[in-house]
Amino acid sequence: MSNKNTKDILILAIESSCDETSAAVLKNGKILSNIIAGQKVHEQYGGVIPELASRAHQQNIVPVVDVALKKAGVQPQQLSAVAFTEGPGLLGSLLVGASFAKSMALALDIPLIGVHHMKAHLLAHFIDDATGKIPEFPFIGLTVSGGHTQIVLVKNHFDMEVLGETLDDAVGEAFDKTAKLLGLPYPGGPHIDRLAQEGNPHAFKFPKPKTEGLTFSFSGLKTSVLYFLQKKLKENPDFIRQNLADIAASFQHTVIEMLTDKLWEAVRQTGIKRIAIGGGVSANKGLKKALENLAETEGWEVFIPKFEYTTDNAAMIAITAYYKYLKGEFSPLTTVPKARMKI
Ligand code: KG4
Ligand code: ZN
Repeated sequence: MSNKNTKDILILAIESSCDETSAAVLKNGKILSNIIAGQKVHEQYGGVIPELASRAHQQNIVPVVDVALKKAGVQPQQLSAVAFTEGPGLLGSLLVGASFAKSMALALDIPLIGVHHMKAHLLAHFIDDATGKIPEFPFIGLTVSGGHTQIVLVKNHFDMEVLGETLDDAVGEAFDKTAKLLGLPYPGGPHIDRLAQEGNPHAFKFPKPKTEGLTFSFSGLKTSVLYFLQKKLKENPDFIRQNLADIAASFQHTVIEMLTDKLWEAVRQTGIKRIAIGGGVSANKGLKKALENLAETEGWEVFIPKFEYTTDNAAMIAITAYYKYLKGEFSPLTTVPKARMKI
């Protein structure tokens, strides 16, 4: 039965910006399904290989969409719109999701909605079971992923302003590159996080680079870990194995301080004490704890999404598309995905 005569808004959303193929179905602002297929193929290379990512998206997209629709109990003919990640991301990967979404929109004669991936990471907080509470506007968004580290002033669902960002590596990249130096599998963020729980965060001291205002720099930190390890390995070839948890904890502690230092500055500059984080690194247990402590001691209101809405997922694309749908903001079928895209 067609949805066109009923009031229900049913959106199928597709996310394919990096190495996760994901599809979600949303009904009137509620997520009915959120299917995520990861890509194991990159593990052996210690990083995402764009060509292999596009190919894996091609293999995954039909079954992932099929499972998302079936789990939601929704027929394609009932859909009100199809949404996809327009950018930023790996172009070959984005093209798979974009082409699929366009074909569906064309075949079903329904609107197409292109979504900004980083805005979606922040709007993940509006999924009703993301944290159990929804941030009021305006709030400070901190996006921490494999490709981005930004402090964003979120004025409403559509209007966001980047107040500062990284000048070089993203924070997730720093986790992954440091993990690689430690011989940990890709992606290394979760491994460092796990090891850090057992280590002493003050065992080793790594310098925090000084950057202006609300900008970040993580490439220097990775280099200091590299030089530190090279020096220690000369003295003791088994240094990493014997000190793995302490190195992970000390590195993670430094990163968390770099992030919270800038949040302090953002609170000072804006006078806003409401902070919502998004992106893969917001799954980090140490960061979560540090923010919860600040909430308690400084009276900040802190929002950390549920794990399944931190790393790349289509539910966040669906909720962002829902607000665009309500506003009638649709994309033409000529829309092309963009590797780089401003917030
Ligand atoms: O948002 P995301 O899934 O993909 C991008 O848009 O980049 O973020 C992936 C990044 C990776 O760098 C991964 O190592 C990191 O998030 N990550 C973590 C944790 N879980 C994922 N970093 C630190 N601690 C974690 N628990
Ligand atoms: Zn992401």
